[in-house]
Formats: sequence, C-alpha cells, structure tokens
Amino acid sequence: MLTTVRVRQFSPTDLPAVAAIVKDSLRENYPASLYLDIHRWWRDGFLVAENGGSVVGFLAAVVSAPQTARILMLAVYGPWRRHGVGSAIMDAFVKECAMRGLNVIELEVRKSNADAVRFYARYGFQVATVLPRFYTDGEDGYKMRRHL
Ligand code: ACO
Repeated sequence: MLTTVRVRQFSPTDLPAVAAIVKDSLRENYPASLYLDIHRWWRDGFLVAENGGSVVGFLAAVVSAPQTARILMLAVYGPWRRHGVGSAIMDAFVKECAMRGLNVIELEVRKSNADAVRFYARYGFQVATVLPRFYTDGEDGYKMRRHL
C-alpha cells in the first residue's frame, strides 16, 4: 500500500481533509486560519501524504528557535495507520530539516499516547522532560527531542 502514497507540500485546498484528520485523530477543532498561518510561516514544514488524490496523513511544524524545528501536529487517518505512512512523512520532514540546516527537532506528546511515543522513539527522539498538566484536560506531556 505504501508505494501508492506520495508526500508533498500542503496546499490550502487540503484544508478540509487535514481538519477532518485532526478531528478524527487528535480530537481537536482548530480554525482554518491556524493551518493557513502555519503554512505561511514555513511552507516546507507542512507536509501531506496523499493516496489516489486523498490526503491520508500530514505533519505541520514551525521553526521554533534558531536551528530548531517543532512538530505541532502529526497524524495519519485511522484506517491508514501501520502501513508506513507516518514513516514516509517523517522521512520527508527530516530531509527538509536537514536541507534547511536545522539540527534539532522537538515535539510534545501525551504520556498515554504509547503508539506515538514508540513511533518517535524509533525515529531517535528521546524524552527530554515531563511537562506536568501540559494538556487542557490535565494530562502530562513528554517533550521529546531528536538531534540531526
Ligand atoms: N504492517 C505492519 N506494521 C507496520 C507496517 C506494515 N506494513 N508498516 C509500518 N508498520 C509499523 C511500524 O514498524 C511502526 O511500528 P512501531 O509502532 O513500533 O513504531 C508502526 O507500524 C507505525 O509506523 P508507521 O506505519 O510508519 O506510522 P503510522 O502511519 O501508523 O503513523 C502515527 C504513526 C502518526 C503516530 C499514527 O499512529 C497516528 O496518526 N496516531 C494518532 C495521532 C497521534 O497520536 N499523533 C501524534 C500526536 S503528537 C504530535 O502531534 C506532535
């Protein structure tokens, strides 16, 4: 299935598909302006994975400090998980960071999100610190970091 997946830059026409994945996978609803702002800030850091014209996953990141990228959101549509889509997106993103001369990637993830924590660990991310009550429902987060 992976061979049919293509990773490319986000385009504003992807907005409804990306918002649907966010609702389904991250249980969040953000205004359209947020995605458009992220896209404006760093076009190469907003990637989507497409299969036969449908967006099945995406990654949105910002440059948060000199030489540091921060992944704000990474999600794959439920039925498409565990088929290498997240890996394809992450590989493309790491290449993009390297090309831009960034040497640190960081992110926050819920402590209870074992699948994502394992996924990031497989990509060389390590827990840098625990973020007590980081999420609005009171759950702790992990700050994870990887050096390139
Ligand atoms: N058959 C079976 N297993 C496979 C296959 C395959 N063909 N291909 C890959 N896998 C395994 C991988 O080895 C990997 O194993 P791991 O769990 O030990 O890491 C696992 O499947 C996942 O790898 P991928 O398929 O490349 O990743 P996926 O497309 O499932 O995306 C992600 C991972 C993004 C974490 C996904 O689980 C997801 O969307 N979760 C819900 C949203 C979420 O929690 N996002 C992260 C929040 S934190 C933040 O946004 C900063």
